[in-house]
Amino acid sequence: MKQVPSAHFGTTPVVPDRGGRGPWRAAAARRPGALTLAAIGVWAAMGGAVAAAQTPADLQVRSLAATCAACHGTDGNAVASSATPRLAGLDQDTFLREMHEFREGTRPSTVMQQIAKGFNDDQTERLAKYFAGQK
Ligand code: HEC
Repeated sequence: MKQVPSAHFGTTPVVPDRGGRGPWRAAAARRPGALTLAAIGVWAAMGGAVAAAQTPADLQVRSLAATCAACHGTDGNAVASSATPRLAGLDQDTFLREMHEFREGTRPSTVMQQIAKGFNDDQTERLAKYFAGQK
């Protein structure tokens, strides 16, 4: 892992949630200190300088949302000239209903039927909440 000077971070991030997948879980069980180090590594890799108090759960939903960015824009802000609808600020219930309909094939789509099938209910709910919170 890349060594980062601690002054860069100001304070050590609080890591309340030990969930998620990754090789650090097993290591963390043996050596508690390893979790903090691994979390800082992930945090730094994902642009920790941008938002200071992010938990692993925050980072996870951001990385899920990043898979939508190619078409829907960064954080769901599709560019004005894009034919792809914007997701930022979309009502959670509407988002969940649309994703469900895409999955079921009852909502006409070119690509979203396939994409929606790639996310489970938990991930879809977290994405709904995330995009609803974007401006
Ligand atoms: C390859 C491009 C592409 C990617 C990647 C993509 N989308 Fe879409 N999305 C579309 C298109 C195009 C539509 C319009 C429906 C269609 O043709 O499939 C759409 C429509 C939607 C809609 C309906 C919005 C509305 O109000 O009509 C939602 C919700 C949505 N996408 C969510 C997502 C989420 C969540 C992700 C990431 C997990 C994602 N999309 C990734 C292209 C994409």
